[in-house]
Amino acid sequence: MLSISILGTGNLAKHLFDAFLKAKGINVVQVVGRNKEALAQFSEHCTISQDFTTIADTDVYLMAVKDDAIAEVSKYLSHKKGVVAHTSGAIGLEAIQAVNKGVFYPLQTFTKGKPVSFQYIPICIEAQSKQSLEILITLGHSISENVHHIDSEQRKKLHLAAVFVNNFTNYLYDVGESLCLDEGLSFDLLKPLILETAEKVQRLSPKEAQTGPARRNDSESMEAHLELLNNEEHRTLYKLLSQAIKKRHEEEL
Ligand SMILES: NC(=O)c1ccc[n+]([C@@H]2O[C@H](COP(=O)([O-])OP(=O)(O)OC[C@H]3O[C@@H](n4cnc5c(N)ncnc54)[C@H](OP(=O)(O)O)[C@@H]3O)[C@@H](O)[C@H]2O)c1
Repeated sequence: MLSISILGTGNLAKHLFDAFLKAKGINVVQVVGRNKEALAQFSEHCTISQDFTTIADTDVYLMAVKDDAIAEVSKYLSHKKGVVAHTSGAIGLEAIQAVNKGVFYPLQTFTKGKPVSFQYIPICIEAQSKQSLEILITLGHSISENVHHIDSEQRKKLHLAAVFVNNFTNYLYDVGESLCLDEGLSFDLLKPLILETAEKVQRLSPKEAQTGPARRNDSESMEAHLELLNNEEHRTLYKLLSQAIKKRHEEEL
């Protein structure tokens, strides 16, 4: 049985808590966080505390706090024997000030109040020692079939890649929605296209899956699109992305 504490009461802390509560061989001993109201939701199944100086002794401490607070929170755990792991894609192992450092990064976008199954979510693990690595891998396997040993440099690049495929794509959905609303059209009209685009890259490489006026270098269509765009930021984005797509496919044109 692995005992764990969760530090933080936010979005990821709640999703991890729910997953570990159902996991075999894992005992969630304590949740520690600053926010009394947020802490209350964990009180039925484990002990809770607002005081970071009274953290229970457990095998693993998962710091699901905002990236900038990782170093500060780890100071409260500097004397602990268990593995002290953060859950961030962007922060290195060295930010942790503890004896047994580790990373437990679930590569997914989590939404408050939207239940999620961890079964296929990649869990990216890193640790300073072999023993800590094994403990975190066991913890990862308790909730997911998709556990990987990934070092800090690799993880930072992976996180950057995730920003491109998730955050930037989602911003482009936002642009698409505003263009639809300008014409009194529903964003729902674009949803089958969004699903098919995501589905296609499960089978094809993104390069193979690319379509559209920039890939075909249909200059008249691109000029017409630019005339329709009156938001300067959207025009800049359109030109930049079309240029990048054209360059990526120039050998085929
Ligand atoms: N959300 C995702 O999709 C996702 C995915 C993968 C990894 N992660 C990682 O998970 C971590 C937590 O992200 P999140 O989305 O759960 O953020 P969140 O919902 O904003 O929660 C942040 C938590 O950090 C606590 N916190 C902030 N500053 C603190 C400090 N100085 N001392 C103690 N606690 C502090 C907050 O407490 P208060 O409520 O008191 O401010 C809150 O409990 C981050 O490292 C993030 O990179 C997130």
